[in-house]
Amino acid sequence: MRAAAFTDLIGPDGVSLIEQPTPEPGPTEAVVDVEAASINRHDLWILEGDSAMVTADNLPFVSGLDLAGEVRAVGDDVTSVTPGDRVVLCPNETCGVCRFCREGPENLCESYSLYHGGLAEAACVEAARLVTLPDSVEMTQAAALPTAYMTAYQMLRRARVGPTDLVFIPGATGGVGVAGVQLASIFGARTIGTSSSRDKLDQLEGIGLAHAIQGTDPDDLRESVQAIGTPDAVLNHLGGAYTGLGLDVLRRGGRMVVCGRTAGQFSDIDIADLFLGHKRVIGSTMGTQTDLETLVELVAEGALTPIIDDTYLLEQTGDAFAAMQNRESVGKLVITP
Ligand SMILES: NC(=O)c1ccc[n+]([C@@H]2O[C@H](COP(=O)([O-])OP(=O)(O)OC[C@H]3O[C@@H](n4cnc5c(N)ncnc54)[C@H](OP(=O)(O)O)[C@@H]3O)[C@@H](O)[C@H]2O)c1
Ligand SMILES: [Zn+2]
Repeated sequence: MRAAAFTDLIGPDGVSLIEQPTPEPGPTEAVVDVEAASINRHDLWILEGDSAMVTADNLPFVSGLDLAGEVRAVGDDVTSVTPGDRVVLCPNETCGVCRFCREGPENLCESYSLYHGGLAEAACVEAARLVTLPDSVEMTQAAALPTAYMTAYQMLRRARVGPTDLVFIPGATGGVGVAGVQLASIFGARTIGTSSSRDKLDQLEGIGLAHAIQGTDPDDLRESVQAIGTPDAVLNHLGGAYTGLGLDVLRRGGRMVVCGRTAGQFSDIDIADLFLGHKRVIGSTMGTQTDLETLVELVAEGALTPIIDDTYLLEQTGDAFAAMQNRESVGKLVITP
């Protein structure tokens, strides 16, 4: 089988098609013929050599957390899925025995890690991590859900976002950003989203973004947000200067949930404003398999349509990463092996 492997950690030019043996499932595993796999900034960081997880010693490396496809074969102990089933993978890898695995939520598992290997024609996965897809859910839609939508869904829940809340989402045009806008709207909340690009903000029309602000300068953005209102919650996947900005605009007692560091791993914050304003900063990573099941149901019911910027053939995987790196896309980029 073919895989789009990272063969050099130099960015999009470091992706090459390689031949690998088609995997055989172990007793608890399933092999899925991958029909769609979405990429995330996490994969791009690995490809750029900006992740401690993968070094030159681990190459070639097949990344890809979010895959959907048809089950090809299952191991002897597997009863949850059978060959021919349409499925999407929950990429959570958990120990199953720590207190968070026992009592939940599972994404807090003390040995938490992520599946990698979706950027290939077939993937060997733990069968228990597969969620069955109704016929009405397209493979490309399903592949868009796991990382971006699970993460945004969990962030909204941890911020206890509810009807009429105002949610500020700096960087509203990418995977987590768009998912945050769409899901906040389903929660009954209004959103303020930002982007460096007017054109990309225009493409968000119709997905429920109440207020679009073009800009990147934190002082300008602060003024623009304050002119609209006082957010009850901030979904912060950018970090850097956006953390201080988010805390500045947050209402008293408001919640900022942080999941990423695209704009910088370190942030200066005003500690006095934090405690005098009774504000909360909450770290969050991924979501639970139950969250993914809920998201699949939302898509099946027609309540949620994942936003897919473009699809690419396996041999065009480098182009998809270039589009992400160049900040050209809105929503998710999906590879269709
Ligand atoms: N902890 C977790 O479980 C988890 C899960 C998913 C994602 N994340 C993190 O969340 C972040 C977003 O991931 P993603 O896959 O959604 O990425 P993505 O699709 O590439 O996000 C693109 C968005 O980020 C903005 N952006 C890109 N570079 C920027 C910069 N230098 N300064 C300011 N804004 C910038 C873009 O703004 P423009 O419109 O202006 O281009 C766009 O809105 C990443 O840091 C990722 O690692 C964490
Ligand atoms: Zn655990």
